[in-house]
Amino acid sequence: MIFQKPSLRTRVSFQIGMAQLGGQAIYLGPEDIKLGKRETTEDIAIVLSSYVDGIMARTFEHKTVADLGEFSSVPVINGLSQWTHPCQALADYLTVWEKKRRLDGLKLVFFGDFNNVARSLVFGGIKLGVSVTIACPAETIDDKPAEEYADVVAWAKEEGPKYGATLTVSHNPREAIEGADVVYTDVWESMGEKGTKSKDIFRPFQLDRELFKLAKPDAIIEHCLPAIYDEELTYEVSRLPNAVMFDQAENRMHAQNAVMASFFHAGY
Ligand code: CP
Ligand code: NVA
Repeated sequence: MIFQKPSLRTRVSFQIGMAQLGGQAIYLGPEDIKLGKRETTEDIAIVLSSYVDGIMARTFEHKTVADLGEFSSVPVINGLSQWTHPCQALADYLTVWEKKRRLDGLKLVFFGDFNNVARSLVFGGIKLGVSVTIACPAETIDDKPAEEYADVVAWAKEEGPKYGATLTVSHNPREAIEGADVVYTDVWESMGEKGTKSKDIFRPFQLDRELFKLAKPDAIIEHCLPAIYDEELTYEVSRLPNAVMFDQAENRMHAQNAVMASFFHAGY
């Protein structure tokens, strides 16, 4: 397990999950191997492949985890990059399924920055028949590189009809939440971005009780955690019976165990 950034859930759920599957996990923090600083990603991937059966990596640039995948001979799992957070989306949709007993035809609305978590919710949601609305301030998408916004919108437009699902980008929180089965939010500034954004532009997108009232009465509230209360959501909303963030956190482990079991049992 290679980490360039801090973690509670990802680190502990992979460590315990690997033990549950009968294996063991080794934690390599930012200071241990100094990925990209002490030696190249290519050399690290080749060396690790001779010792271990799989690599999980949390990186700043997506290229780093992609390079690990390219140069290693064992499976590489993305434990969060600037671009995506796929293990999170797997746990999130597992949690939706547990609560709703269906996915096809549901509507998920995400409030905040069109970030790594939002993109993985789009990639996973469309393929599961869940229509996703990203409600974000207009100013925050203008300067995003193509792979972080325009390419995702184009992918959803192409793939959506195959699964009967759509991606909508909205800048109006009260309109976006109408008819939502799942209301999702995440921090306005992701790791590595602190101090780069004006929080004022995000405030209308804060999930508070008044906004949540406009969702379906049985809507559930998701958050990948860690949360900053009174920024992206109020503490009050986070403690409603509809809030399922701690189920999501637990499901990280179960969803990831399924990923690891499928890799290791398939004999890649
Ligand atoms: N949700 C999530 O990935 O949490 P950590 O950053 O604590 O791993
Ligand atoms: N978007 C957040 C998710 C943290 C789990 C980040 O990248 O910091």
